[in-house]
Amino acid sequence: MVTTPEAYKGISMDIYYIDGAFVEEDKAVISVKDIVVLRGYGVFDFLITYNKRPFRLKQHVERLQNSARHIGLEIRLSTDEICAIAEETVKRNSHHDESNIRLVYTGGISSDGVTPEGNGTLMVMVTPRHHLPAWWYTDGVKIITVDIERFIPGAKSTNYLSAVYALGLARKQNAVESIYIDRDNRLLEGTTTNIFMLQGNRLITSGSNILPGVTRSVILELAADQFDVDVRDIDKSELSAAEEIFITASNKEVVPVIAVDDRSVGDGKPGPKTRRLMKLFGDHTTAYGQGNV
Ligand SMILES: Cc1ncc(COP(=O)(O)O)c(C=O)c1O
Repeated sequence: MVTTPEAYKGISMDIYYIDGAFVEEDKAVISVKDIVVLRGYGVFDFLITYNKRPFRLKQHVERLQNSARHIGLEIRLSTDEICAIAEETVKRNSHHDESNIRLVYTGGISSDGVTPEGNGTLMVMVTPRHHLPAWWYTDGVKIITVDIERFIPGAKSTNYLSAVYALGLARKQNAVESIYIDRDNRLLEGTTTNIFMLQGNRLITSGSNILPGVTRSVILELAADQFDVDVRDIDKSELSAAEEIFITASNKEVVPVIAVDDRSVGDGKPGPKTRRLMKLFGDHTTAYGQGNV
């Protein structure tokens, strides 16, 4: 069923795009035979709007396509087509102040239940923006480290078992995020975030075996002429020497970290350089919302 925005004025039912149609959220269904359900085989991406403008949409869509390439999934839609569908879905949810946008491309239905046959489904789920607690930004958060490596880390696949599991461990320790450590003791990324450390004027972030975060790329752009930027492998032991730490993600933006496992970071308060980057990021996204960048 194709809907029009007028038909839903005053009704807070969200509109999703599923495989060629715009439907009310409770009518958005896919087949239980889709291997995204049976095998966790599919890809997704996630972004938010600023002033109703999807932030870095093209970059997110290109990452979705790149995730698909990484896992051998064919997406039969161009970057421009997916961008246009996402823009239209946001417009059909004009009852939101700001939106979360989840792009999903499923593995599709497979005759033998395991071999992709190129018939996946694009889903665009647009929901109201969910704000995180203000204290995360004013007081800072605790994170923990976990000895887990993601399979094909360059892909944002619909199999986020490790994320759900590791985040459960974090919550038990009053932490908001778990950071993956690989078998060589390298610090990788969080379950849904990238991690940065500050040491003097040096801004350091992991360089490989991670999902290249869009927020991370924005921070690297904004920091380029203010910090000595170091994108490289990081040994877990370097965490204890970090003067400041923060994590980044589309839904979280820039979150100061004040404790890792049972150790405080710096003086246990969000540091001045992190706060400067939070401000730069905020100014950038505000300007984006106004169409100025
Ligand atoms: C594993 C992983 N790393 C990093 C990120 C941060 O990426 P972005 O800044 O594009 O949201 C995410 C986002 O969910 C993620 O799932």
